[in-house]
Formats: sequence, C-alpha cells, structure tokens
Amino acid sequence: MRFDVRTALVTGGGSGIGAATSRRLAGQGAQVVVADINAAAARDVAAEIDAMAVTMDVADAESVRAAAEEAGPIDILVNNAGTDLPGFFVNTNEQMWDFVIAVNLRGTLSVTHAFLPGMHERGRGSIVNVASEAGRTGSQLSSSYSAAKAGVIGFTKAIARESARFGVRCNAVAPGPIDTPLLNAAPEAMGELGARLKQGMIDATAMRRLGTPDEVAAAIAFLASDDASYVTGQTLGVSGGLSMW
Ligand SMILES: NC(=O)c1ccc[n+]([C@@H]2O[C@H](COP(=O)([O-])OP(=O)(O)OC[C@H]3O[C@@H](n4cnc5c(N)ncnc54)[C@H](O)[C@@H]3O)[C@@H](O)[C@H]2O)c1
Repeated sequence: MRFDVRTALVTGGGSGIGAATSRRLAGQGAQVVVADINAAAARDVAAEIDAMAVTMDVADAESVRAAAEEAGPIDILVNNAGTDLPGFFVNTNEQMWDFVIAVNLRGTLSVTHAFLPGMHERGRGSIVNVASEAGRTGSQLSSSYSAAKAGVIGFTKAIARESARFGVRCNAVAPGPIDTPLLNAAPEAMGELGARLKQGMIDATAMRRLGTPDEVAAAIAFLASDDASYVTGQTLGVSGGLSMW
C-alpha cells in the first residue's frame, strides 16, 4: 500500500507509536506532518523522514487551530497524542480527570474538528484514532484514561456514520501493552510493584509479550489506506489477543 500524493498528520508524532506511524507513512510515500506538544521531539522525527514539524497541544483549542493552519489540507489524520496520570481512582482528583480527558478525548475531538471540514469539502479522507484496550476492558490505576479511551471509541463510530457520505472513513486501534515511554514511566517510578504491574499486563495478552510501536503503526497504516476502503467505524485490537471482540 502506497500513500503517494497523500498528506498525513500524526499527533503525538514525536515519540512511541506516533513516531513509528510517522516513519511508516513517510516510508510509504505520504507527505507527513509530525505534530507534538514537544517541539524538539517533533523536529527530530520530522528531520529523519523529511517531514514537516508543528508544535501542537491537542488539549488547547487555540494551539490546534494555529497548527492546523500551518499544516494545511490533510488526507490522513492520526489522532495519537495521549497521556495518563496513573493511580487508584480514590487517590485522584478533578484536576487530574480534566487533564487526562482533555488530552485523550477532548484533544481527539478538537483536532478532528479542525481537519474534518476540509476532508468533507474535498470528498476524501481517513481518520485513525488511537484508543486503547483500556477503553474496552477497563484498566486498573487508569480510570479516567479508560473512560476517555472508551469515549474515543464512541466518537470514532459517530464520525464514521456522519462522514461516510462525504467519502471520509474513521476507525480506531486499541493497542494493548506497547513498549513505549508511556507504558514504562509508571512501572519505573513504582519499583517492585511497577514491575509486577507490567508483568500483569504482559500476562493478560494471549501472546505473553509486549507489542512494538511499529506493530501498532502497521495497523494504523492499513486502516488509513485504500486497502481498508470498506472499513469504517471499527476498533481494531492490536494487543496480542488481550481482548477478543
Ligand atoms: N504504550 C501503550 O502501552 C499504549 C497502550 C494503549 C494505547 N496507547 C496510546 O497510544 C498513544 C501513543 O502513546 P505512546 O505509548 O506512543 O506514548 P509516548 O509517551 O511514547 O508518546 C506520546 C506522545 O504524545 C505527545 N503528547 C502528549 N500530550 C500531548 C498533547 N497535549 N498534545 C500533543 N502531543 C502530546 C508526547 O509529547 C509524546 O510525544 C496514546 O494515545 C496512548 O494512550 C498506548
């Protein structure tokens, strides 16, 4: 599958799954825009693949609007930026929920809102949202994150229904435990308990291993491509069989 004469924007493209997706889409011929709140990380990935870098905080509507203007028209949008503040729900507070929901859920809405009208006008486009198995099975220590990712899955279906008549598809991936800085941050900070938690996530998969960022990028690239031309509103688990529906 090739993406020649397609433009793609990947949020959170400076690290992990987003960086792997940016590299893969560029490798397959797309003109990529790497968007990240971390300007230096976006620049580094963009320089590697001859792409454009934009600084974008998906949780800040003004930043999204400015970055969208800089990026120009986009055919493929990958809403990948995400973060978590792990902890038992009883130990969290409203500020923490607002932050996690603002980045993972509201950010996906905001960026989609910035690019979808252009896709409708041009009569083509493909959106891939990076949800999580946490949004389907629920993940302990990640209650607001699980809620936000479940929201991303519902949003994906609604946009797929609204946009089909404009030639725009919208799908999601639900990664399981993927070997990235996001996955490793909490276990590293928690020591022995963290190591047990990480092993628990690995044991929950049928394949008994972590996934790689590129294994998720491959699924994102498939959903973004014309090979998936009759696929919309779906959430594809990329989780070594963590859940099976
Ligand atoms: N790693 C996993 O195990 C896993 C599992 C399921 C889902 N996911 C999802 O995959 C996506 C990518 O995560 P990752 O594991 O590659 O993490 P990562 O931490 O390696 O990369 C996330 C990137 O998003 C950027 N980012 C964070 N907040 C942002 C904001 N407000 N605006 C713009 N960019 C922002 C970061 O700077 C970073 O470059 C996230 O949506 C995450 O929830 C990851």
